[in-house]
Amino acid sequence: MCGIVGYIGDKNSATDFVINGLRALEYRGYDSAGIATTDGGKLIYLKNAGRVNSLAKLVAENGNTYQTVDSKLSCGIGHTRWATHGRPTKVNAHPHTNADKKIFVVCNGIIENYQELKSTLEEKGYKFVSETDTEVIPHLIDSYLKEGEDFFTAFKMAVSDLRGAYAIATYCIDKPEVLYAARLSSPIVIGVGENEHFIASDPSALINNTKKVIFLNDFEVAEIKADKVHIESLDGAKAATGEVVELDYEAEESDIGKYPHFMLKEIHEAPATIESATRGRVKPSINTVKLGGLEAVKQQLTHIDRIIITACGTSYYAGLLGEYLIEEIAGIPVEVELASEFKYRSEPFTRNTAVIAISQSGETADTIAAIKKVEDYGILKLGIVNATGSTIARITDAGVYCHAGPEQSVASTKAFMAQVTILAEIALHLSDGKSKLFSPLLKELSVLPEKAKKVLEAEPQIKELAKKYADCRDFLFMGRGYLYPCALEGALKLKEISYIHAEGCSAGEMKHGPLAMIDENFPTVALAAEGPLLDKMLSNIEEIKARKGPIIAIATEGNDNIERLATDVIFIPKVREQLQPLLVVIVLQLFAYHIAVNKGLNVDRPRNLAKSVTVE
Ligand code: M6R
Repeated sequence: MCGIVGYIGDKNSATDFVINGLRALEYRGYDSAGIATTDGGKLIYLKNAGRVNSLAKLVAENGNTYQTVDSKLSCGIGHTRWATHGRPTKVNAHPHTNADKKIFVVCNGIIENYQELKSTLEEKGYKFVSETDTEVIPHLIDSYLKEGEDFFTAFKMAVSDLRGAYAIATYCIDKPEVLYAARLSSPIVIGVGENEHFIASDPSALINNTKKVIFLNDFEVAEIKADKVHIESLDGAKAATGEVVELDYEAEESDIGKYPHFMLKEIHEAPATIESATRGRVKPSINTVKLGGLEAVKQQLTHIDRIIITACGTSYYAGLLGEYLIEEIAGIPVEVELASEFKYRSEPFTRNTAVIAISQSGETADTIAAIKKVEDYGILKLGIVNATGSTIARITDAGVYCHAGPEQSVASTKAFMAQVTILAEIALHLSDGKSKLFSPLLKELSVLPEKAKKVLEAEPQIKELAKKYADCRDFLFMGRGYLYPCALEGALKLKEISYIHAEGCSAGEMKHGPLAMIDENFPTVALAAEGPLLDKMLSNIEEIKARKGPIIAIATEGNDNIERLATDVIFIPKVREQLQPLLVVIVLQLFAYHIAVNKGLNVDRPRNLAKSVTVE
């Protein structure tokens, strides 16, 4: 969703840093962009509906240097906006400013009480030009300055007036050597350099400049100068921390390399993703699974008798697979809850319940809220997170990192691979070696990357299939057992990047409704890999065939009968049913990808969607 970057210092051009930082945040999804920066004493304030490249062009062409600023330092902020309040237009783009265009504010999130604040400000004579909620902030600061407050106090008073979830950065040309930032439920991080500081809503905008960062916590406000950062907490009960931590990922991992889209690159990273999710953890030679991230809570884990997994979107479907895995392997009852529902539910918990939050970004607002909801119950909170140092990684008691590297495409692919691999590892870990599946699955996990490579070799055939089916209006994905959550994920992947209507269902439910949709124009993707439920699945396929529905089957190598039934078949290598989703999903991801490419769509940035959903 929206992105924030900022710079103060004497080493870099603020404008260059901000433009490059905004480019690094483009993958999050946005529809307009803007900057307010000062280099060499000249202010540039420009906004634009559309891409960061057009904004960069405007900056290069005319610079719009309408004011001089008394400072030798470079300083300023920038923003990519994903419209919530008001259309994606130039006037609604951030930064927003006060009447005399001195205070510039960018904001991620939602100010819930902006109407109320706006009315009060309008009564005082303030005029609004945009439809946004953010515009109240520069006017609020301005109003407190007019009451005689110093800038930092005015900033804090304005922030205290806001209700909602936000990350804010502010630059005022009367204070040209300071940046201000605030956070409540939306991430913002300060990068620490030599006589320079950076701000970003996502550390990926900083990693080319510094790996030393300070994560702002909820209710914290920061006054950031080139040589020092001062942080205060507006929550009287908590002291500000301001701890400097080191990020541990590499900038080059975000490069697109030889691929036309990040999504394709990330699908092709499946074997490497399984490898890094198992490295040092899965040890078949000594029949052990070792999860360092859970060591600290080892004792508590032995008392757990109920697990609630909470997540959104693709991470939620990984969670459903976690339910199957943990219940079968470790014998612990699991419930999986959509974070957006879980956070509003009233349900009883016991001390022996553990909550596992799954999130690629670690910044999904609903998942953060779900974790916060259980904070007061004193129950164990675990995370399966990809983005190191993200909010969920920090607010959980312990967890297991995905180590999948930055995922850039809005459609989550390799993160799902890592999440499911880790859920299998957690299930094995919780079984404490007692499950009969313990040794077989450890062995299978260690050879899985090779099998994933074999699935990727089927890409030319999947591409042909995609060409054949690209014009279909609807798709059904059906599976049973471990392949049921996989069917749901296959449907999500297709709809989010190709805008084709797709539904996932349990094959056992077909006769309870979905079968009514089947005719010669409604293809079904049948997940029919070898396993105890294969015969039942074949009966479902027969029923579809009898109604003339085209069938694309995904089956295990060696199943010759399937070709008699299905219109088209993609084969995957033989693998235990508990790990089949990890191979089947690669086929589904490639299928969705090639359909979207065939339709000429923007695969990595589908319309209306954002990578990191940081508002409710
Ligand atoms: O970062 P998270 O894993 O918490 O994100 C959850 C969902 O927003 C995400 O998986 C979304 O559904 C993807 N676009 C699916 O491809």
